[in-house]
Amino acid sequence: MIDQQIKSVIRDIPDFPKPGIVFKDITPILKEPVLCENIVNAFAAHFQNATVDAVAGIESRGFLFGLQLAGKLGVPFVPIRKAGKLPYTVKKMEYDLEYGSAVIEVHTDAFKPGQRILIHDDLLATGGTVTAAANLVTQMGGVIAGFSFIVGLSALEGRQKIAPLADKIVVLAD
Ligand code: PRP
Ligand code: ADE
Repeated sequence: MIDQQIKSVIRDIPDFPKPGIVFKDITPILKEPVLCENIVNAFAAHFQNATVDAVAGIESRGFLFGLQLAGKLGVPFVPIRKAGKLPYTVKKMEYDLEYGSAVIEVHTDAFKPGQRILIHDDLLATGGTVTAAANLVTQMGGVIAGFSFIVGLSALEGRQKIAPLADKIVVLAD
């Protein structure tokens, strides 16, 4: 099963980036091309019957599979970036992280009002990041088609936080 394959390769790094945080390092997945392909296919299978007009991936780890998923679904990719990285006019949103706070931004012409946006990230922890991303998308007139994650940290209850924001939430390894 894909959840076991994912769990068997990701590794825990204690006290990174701050004391007390157990960091889930997904980089070993990237050394396994067959697993990478299986992950993209698993996401695509979950969303192939949903209406998805674009996939939005969150910098930086959300870019790794978000762009591939957009390609697999045959829809555009929308980069949601950390503050000050996008060159055109942006809409921005501040949010809290498990280990600090941050600001994300998206280009104001990244998608059209009414389009259905699948928000993708590598990992769901508190849900603060994707909630901010979903607020950005909806404030620009987009509709949340769903959320997809490779890994979920269920103890932090991110899934409960984002449940009201979309009908479809896919977490491959919870
Ligand atoms: C990590 C991860 C998610 C977010 C999850 O990103 O990639 O985006 O934290 O945490 P949350 O559910 O509590 O919001 P990070 O900000 O560390 O950036 P990175 O992807 O560039 O490493
Ligand atoms: N993002 C937020 N919390 C994280 C964690 N514990 N491991 C990896 N990425 C994270």
